[in-house]
Amino acid sequence: MEEIVKNSIGPIGILIPMEEEIELLLGFVENKSETKIASRTFFIGDFHGRQVVLVKSGIGKVASSFTASLLIHKFNVKSILVTGIAGGIADHIKVGDIAIAVDAVQHDMDCRPLFPQFEIPLSNISFYKSDPVLTSKLETAAKKFVNTEFDNKVSLETMQQLGIELPQIHLGRLASGDQFIGTFNQWEKIRAEVMDTLFVEMEGAAVAQVCYDCGIPWCSIRTISDKADAMAHVDFNLFLNKAAKIYTAGIVKKFIELL
Ligand code: ADE
Repeated sequence: MEEIVKNSIGPIGILIPMEEEIELLLGFVENKSETKIASRTFFIGDFHGRQVVLVKSGIGKVASSFTASLLIHKFNVKSILVTGIAGGIADHIKVGDIAIAVDAVQHDMDCRPLFPQFEIPLSNISFYKSDPVLTSKLETAAKKFVNTEFDNKVSLETMQQLGIELPQIHLGRLASGDQFIGTFNQWEKIRAEVMDTLFVEMEGAAVAQVCYDCGIPWCSIRTISDKADAMAHVDFNLFLNKAAKIYTAGIVKKFIELL
């Protein structure tokens, strides 16, 4: 009965930009089948009794919005989770912390003077809100991961190497754009122009726009790999190789269990 109720909600799409993070998650998916479309492999299966479609989107707004559209129109997903790693922008967010999007903006959208900065032309929208129910479940899942699993899954050695402590969980504004933010000028521009940005990456706000247009709820959770500063590229690679998949798999598993 529980299975029928769960699956009547429809499949959830899980969109991850890079290979490294998808690997562990795939291990949880049962009755798996794969379909390849446009260089993307879509993994369809059951994850804790819930239908999921897992896909590596590739990096950037075009790759991710195209993938989101395929998830919706070819695989009939009824909601989308975007996950992976991100750069921390706000002062209080550190490498190893977890960021959950309350809303998302495309920081490189600028059609002034025709439209206000950040507004998606002809839509009247600058900030796309994440689904409040899914977002609150992400927060619960992240808390559960931090409180019950983090210590067992991430070794002290890795924590010391990455300079991370017990993760804090933050909710706030996500800013996405087709840029890796890794210089002082880029960092300063985002801080000055995109009010209240908590974290940056290159996909979420584009997926949010597609979901909005298609009437599909979305949510996003990311682990902070770097502080979007001059050391960002070094921290990014180290975090990606050492810790990203552990966080992603742990949190997403807890999230799916809550659905
Ligand atoms: N993803 C992870 N770190 C990032 C950064 N600094 N800029 C953009 N996307 C990122």
